[in-house]
Amino acid sequence: MKKVVYAFLLILLVFAILSFSKDFNLYIPPGFPKPHIPEENQLTFSRVELGRKLFFDKIMSRDSSVSCATCHVPEFAFTDRLPKAIGIRKQQVNRNAPTLTNVAYSDKFLLDGVNPSLEAQVMVPIHETNEFDFHVILIAERMKQNPDYIRLCKEAYHSEPNPYAITHSIASFERTLISGNSRYDQFYFQGDSTALNPSQQRGMHLFFNELYCSSCHGGFNFTKQSLTNNGLYVNYPDSGRIRLTGLEKDRAVFKVPTLRNIALTYPYMHDGSIQNLEGVIEHYMSGGKAHPNKDPIITPFDLTEKEKEGLLAFLRSLTDSSFIAQ
Ligand code: HEC
Ligand code: HEC
Repeated sequence: MKKVVYAFLLILLVFAILSFSKDFNLYIPPGFPKPHIPEENQLTFSRVELGRKLFFDKIMSRDSSVSCATCHVPEFAFTDRLPKAIGIRKQQVNRNAPTLTNVAYSDKFLLDGVNPSLEAQVMVPIHETNEFDFHVILIAERMKQNPDYIRLCKEAYHSEPNPYAITHSIASFERTLISGNSRYDQFYFQGDSTALNPSQQRGMHLFFNELYCSSCHGGFNFTKQSLTNNGLYVNYPDSGRIRLTGLEKDRAVFKVPTLRNIALTYPYMHDGSIQNLEGVIEHYMSGGKAHPNKDPIITPFDLTEKEKEGLLAFLRSLTDSSFIAQ
């Protein structure tokens, strides 16, 4: 009888270890909350591995010339250093490629926030004629030629390569792109009072206390996820969120982006029209252009050269070199 009990316990233990080893233990930096992960797409090693492989694989595009990483380059914090992204057959996309830093914390996607889920967002570049110009079913067919993909899909989703495995695994990989070890984090969340120099600390004070920046770019991820207009133009060639809602109040309204790794992700704004951070600061100092939807909080202000340097130095302290090394 005892033997049976021991054998039973052993089997239980083996199952426990097997199911435990499948979970992906997402590192949450000090000061960060846990991101929301959909119940049906919890992270596992094989899901993340499958998503990572697809993210860097050019089979995603019709002529196998472009991958997600063509426009979301890890060294540039998953942007591409172009004013507007360039996809298949050298075609220009109409917007600047945003960073994927901490995208796990976003609750709406694309620059005007029109897409509600990270899983659904994967379909956009696949079918856009100037990005992959392809079809998700045809990607699955290509994956079926590759034993690695067949094995990974089986492990990750108990299925053969199919649209569900493609969209859900890539979303899983993206949720692991968490960045929270910049000099600012070391100073503010990890208690290292030497991590920011006096000029950076002065800039931090300006950013959070004296200027209005943190009313939009506030919180641990430097965005409150609101949607607004920051007065870039009087007339916007890109009409922004109105394409979703049809409401005049959403004309030229865009998502407030995170400022994490901001020194790496130039050029700036939805159309890449501002080359550098000096230019961004000058934009806000001028109070922006008089667009009817401009947020009234954006008004002109003056900074001394030293203060400007401090604000710049603070923004540069948001770079997380361990993040881009992954
Ligand atoms: C040709 C360049 C290009 C390719 C290829 C590309 N993207 Fe993007 N990505 C962009 C641009 C540009 C935007 C902003 C588009 C918009 O707002 O309409 C974007 C937006 C996103 C967003 C939304 C981020 C946010 O903050 O809302 C995510 C997530 C994303 N891409 C992931 C991916 C994934 C995953 C792939 C591969 C399946 C991919 N991208 C392929 C250029 C590209
Ligand atoms: C009313 C809300 C609001 C305030 C206040 C605000 N911003 Fe922004 N910021 C935005 C929006 C919206 C965008 C994106 C605009 C676009 O894509 O065209 C943006 C973009 C940026 C960008 C470019 C990000 C990128 O990835 O392209 C930087 C840098 C920036 N803001 C810094 C600041 C600083 C510094 C301050 C304070 C002086 C500030 N912002 C105040 C709403 C705001």
